[in-house]
Amino acid sequence: MRLEGKRALVTGSSQGIGAEIARLFSKEGATVVVNHRAGAPHPERTVDSIRKAGGKAFALHADVSDPVSVRGLFRDVKKRVGGLDILVNAAGLADRTLWNLKLEDTTLEMWQRVFAVDAFGTFLCTQGAAGLMKRGSSIVNVASIPAIVGDTEGLVYASAKGAVISMTRMFAKMLAPEIRVNCMAFGSIETTWVDWLGKEQARSYLSAIPMRRFGKPSEAADLALFLAGDKSSFITGQVITLDGGEAAR
Ligand SMILES: NC(=O)c1ccc[n+]([C@@H]2O[C@H](COP(=O)([O-])OP(=O)(O)OC[C@H]3O[C@@H](n4cnc5c(N)ncnc54)[C@H](OP(=O)(O)O)[C@@H]3O)[C@@H](O)[C@H]2O)c1
Repeated sequence: MRLEGKRALVTGSSQGIGAEIARLFSKEGATVVVNHRAGAPHPERTVDSIRKAGGKAFALHADVSDPVSVRGLFRDVKKRVGGLDILVNAAGLADRTLWNLKLEDTTLEMWQRVFAVDAFGTFLCTQGAAGLMKRGSSIVNVASIPAIVGDTEGLVYASAKGAVISMTRMFAKMLAPEIRVNCMAFGSIETTWVDWLGKEQARSYLSAIPMRRFGKPSEAADLALFLAGDKSSFITGQVITLDGGEAAR
């Protein structure tokens, strides 16, 4: 097992990619702290599935955009498992109101809402985790390919992920040699947002992907495992795309 004895916190792991990462890390021997906000529709689903499979996990509810909540989260992580070896900053906000938006309809409130979770959340959780991590620990961030290559929509979301990419490079240098910090930049991975797409829209998304399919959450989790574990021990400050070739230039 590749994460035997490690303690991992995965933010935003009530569903989607975060949940898949939590499950894979547990299969690889980690004790996993599953994080999401209180009041999620299926609050204990991820923890239940991990425990049913014989893994070790517990949930800690916290809003990653709220400094008080994040302080409480890391206080509880310390109390429950004593420290941390891996942090995955997977919590993200990308509701459907943020797409198909004209520039003139884009509001500052949207920037504040999305940056609060994706960018400020990544900062706050990195700050909290760094205080609990020893040499050999790893932080894995989550971004998106429009932050690298641009797009005609999703301005606010892509910009917040651009901040995550900058933080990845900054934190990699600031926290070395103790802690490695890398980032996964996803293209289209099949989670809840795919259900919003009509047939025509789905076809148009797929036509932009050389592999002609959406990525699977399990493929995202495999990359997270590589970056979190010792197989990537000399890699830090990198942004690795997982996109079926969409951002290839
Ligand atoms: N799917 C894709 O195609 C794709 C592409 C590029 C990047 N990404 C990024 O990959 C990550 C996971 O995406 P996904 O598609 O799996 O998303 P998702 O299904 O919408 O899940 C998002 C997760 O973030 C949590 N979350 C949201 N706000 C939070 C907050 N303030 N505090 C704590 N947790 C919060 C949600 O939990 P609760 O709502 O239960 O709190 C949920 O667990 C995100 O960062 C996303 O931006 C995804």
